[in-house]
This record gives sequence, C-alpha cells and structure tokens, in this order.
Amino acid sequence: MTTGRNAVRVGLLGCGIVGGATARVLTEQAATLSERAGVRIDLAKVAVRDLSKPRTVQLPDEVWTADAWSVVKDPTIDVIVETIGGVEPARDLIIEAARSGKHIVTANKELLSTLGEKVMGAAEQAGVDLLFEGSVAGGIPIIRPMKESLAGDRVTRVMGIVNGTTNFILTRMSETGETFEAALGEAERLGYPELDPSADIEGHDAAAKLAILASLAFNARVVASDVEREGISKVTPEDVAAAHELGYEIKLLAVAEESEGQVSARVNPAMLPRLHPLAAVRDVFNAVFVVGAEAGELMFLGRGAGGGPTASAVVGDIVEIARNVATGGRATGCTCYRDKAQMRPPHEANVRYYVVLSVLDQPGVLAAVAGVFAAHEISIASVRQEGIGEEATLALITHVGTEGRHDETFAELETLDSVRSIDSRLRVVGTAEA
Ligand code: HSE
Repeated sequence: MTTGRNAVRVGLLGCGIVGGATARVLTEQAATLSERAGVRIDLAKVAVRDLSKPRTVQLPDEVWTADAWSVVKDPTIDVIVETIGGVEPARDLIIEAARSGKHIVTANKELLSTLGEKVMGAAEQAGVDLLFEGSVAGGIPIIRPMKESLAGDRVTRVMGIVNGTTNFILTRMSETGETFEAALGEAERLGYPELDPSADIEGHDAAAKLAILASLAFNARVVASDVEREGISKVTPEDVAAAHELGYEIKLLAVAEESEGQVSARVNPAMLPRLHPLAAVRDVFNAVFVVGAEAGELMFLGRGAGGGPTASAVVGDIVEIARNVATGGRATGCTCYRDKAQMRPPHEANVRYYVVLSVLDQPGVLAAVAGVFAAHEISIASVRQEGIGEEATLALITHVGTEGRHDETFAELETLDSVRSIDSRLRVVGTAEA
C-alpha cells in the first residue's frame, strides 16, 4: 500500500558534526535513499544558531534558517531530525514537533536518558514515530536489534564498552604502559573527549547510554541517575600491569542485568578476562555484548562516535520514517511497557573484586586478612603475595558476593594494624561467575 506521497520533507535542527554529516549523506545519497524509501527524501530546512559560520555542506540559501521553532512548526515538514544535543532546547523543540504531527529522529542520549518518558509520551500521544538509533554507540545498529530482532527473546544482560574516549585512554595505558594523565593528553590532542572531558572520564556519557540500553533490554524505564557510576581517573599503570599478569584487561564497562524482577545497572572500570570478546575492543571502538536466554551471547562492534558513523544511524532512521510515511506504516514505539524499572539496591548487586593491599610481612597477617573476608562471607578465589622485607603486597580476587559485603570487608580491612592501605580495588567482570 502507498499513500500517494511523492516526497518526505526533512527539517534538520543543528548542523554540527552529526548534523553536518547527516545533511551531507542526505544530499550526496539523495537518489539511492529515495529509492530505498520508496519516496523522495528532501532536506527542506536546516536550523543553525549562527548563520554566518562556515559549513561543510553546500545547500541552497533558502534551506538555512536561524529559527528552529519555525522549522518545527512548518506545516510542510514531515520529519524533524534533532542533532542539537543536550536537554534544552531539544526537549521543547521535540515536544512541539510531535504536537505539530511531525515524526522525530534524534541522537540525543542526554535527553532520552533523563526525560525519555516525556518525549516518547509526547510522540505516542501525537501518533508520530520517534526513532533514536544514533543515541547509543554511534554507528553500531543496536537500538533496532534490541527493540525488534530480540523481541522474541529474554535479555538477561547487556554489557558494553560505549565510550570511545575512555576506551582509547585505557587502550593506550594497556599498550604503552603510560599514565592516565598522559593518555588523556593524547586523547585531547586528537580531539576525542567531549567539551567537558568529565562527561567521558567520569562515566556520565556511558551511564546515559546504558540507561537507554537497559530500558530496551528489560522493557522497563531506567534513567541515567539509576546507574551506579565510577570513572577511570584512578586507574594506574600498576593496575594495568597487574591485570595483564593475571590475564585481564581493564575496560570501562557498562553493565545492566535483570534477575528476580530487579534491574541493576553500573558503569565502572573493571577487569575483564583477555579471552572475553570485549577485551579485544581497542582504541575508540565501541561494542555491546548482549546475552539472550535463547540467542545466547551476541556482540555488536563498531565506531561509537563521529559524524559519519552517527549519520549512518540517523539517516537509517529517516529512511525508516520515510518508508512509513509512504506506506502509512508505523515504527515500533516505546517498548517500556513495564514502566519504571525496579532497581536492585546497589549494595545487593552481586559482584567480584580484585583488591590490592599493602600489608606488614609478619606471621599471621594473611590469616587475619582471610579472617576478615570470612567474617563477611566473602570467599577468596585467588591470592598472590609479592615483596620481601617489612612490607608485602597482597593481590586478591574474590568469588561472587554482594557489593555490600565487599564494602564491609574492605572497610574492616582498613582498620587492621597489619594493613597499611588498600591500594586498588576493581570489579572483575566477564568470568563464568560474574
Ligand atoms: N564522547 C563520546 C565517546 C562520544 O567518547 O564515545 C559521544 O557519545
């Protein structure tokens, strides 16, 4: 069935890295995209803040405007593509676009991971499509597979490397032995971090992406503030070297899982066995590892940021909407039919730890340390002692236990006279146990 439409008119908000690449693909590939969609796709308007700024894409003068509101209200526009980013004014523009009957494509992870319910509710109410493939892991197709291809499965875990900047830094630290600061400097030189690097380094960017992935995986809304978060700035070259010796890589992992009706979601640096497929994800690459009850383990790998990769996702969404406009179809709407996720209290999450202690090298110290673990019902999987003389280093890996019991164990260890300091503690993920 077709609706007899011969063109779908697109209004693009923002023409930065992602918007500019989107405009480029829409114009360069216009004929092919129109064939794929079954209807012509016209880039009708592009709203930018500063009309005098030089642009990478050449478009007729009448396409450009500085008034985003006139684009969302324009009755001749069918699809609004929001690439401004951030919560405001993107939220108000998207809600107004929905109310004006326009379909929406957005790559805005900040907005969806905080006010997703509001913007998706506005789209649902208005009967328009809202697609967001570009919001997580740039060019990796992950939203549609989670929403549609895995709709017949039960996802139990999603685990990903979803921040390219931190993966670049940790790759440098792993391959050259350099410090976090030196690797961050290199990332900055190459222009990888966000304007505010703490968005990457402290895990905010990964937490926003994980909230979106977890909402799709478990059909229940998870917001960015539900995600437990720790960044990578405390990872040292010594941690990396010790991880290597034990057969691990350190990665900033975003992990969400569901058990007994409760969801747990966290972003933190973690030791991952070298043989795990995610351990081989280097440089700025992203990857999402999904465990389905039926499908088993799946991995999606690719470039998680940048103009071209994100435009690939955004334009794919535009083509899907254009097909729907042409045929009178609809995209899959919000899949959070269970509404708000019931989050597992963080101290009840089941985790494993690698912990390094500086201890006095005296009789009974190992027994005292082991006694503290035993008292809190945390089982030790392995212990290594290094150093001779007055002080030694103990590196332990635990079996699975709750975060709360691990916290209590570490707090009590710090009170022992024989323990000088806890030098490092990192979660261990991706083993048969956790
Ligand atoms: N700053 C992000 C990253 C890209 O380094 O992966 C945008 O989400």
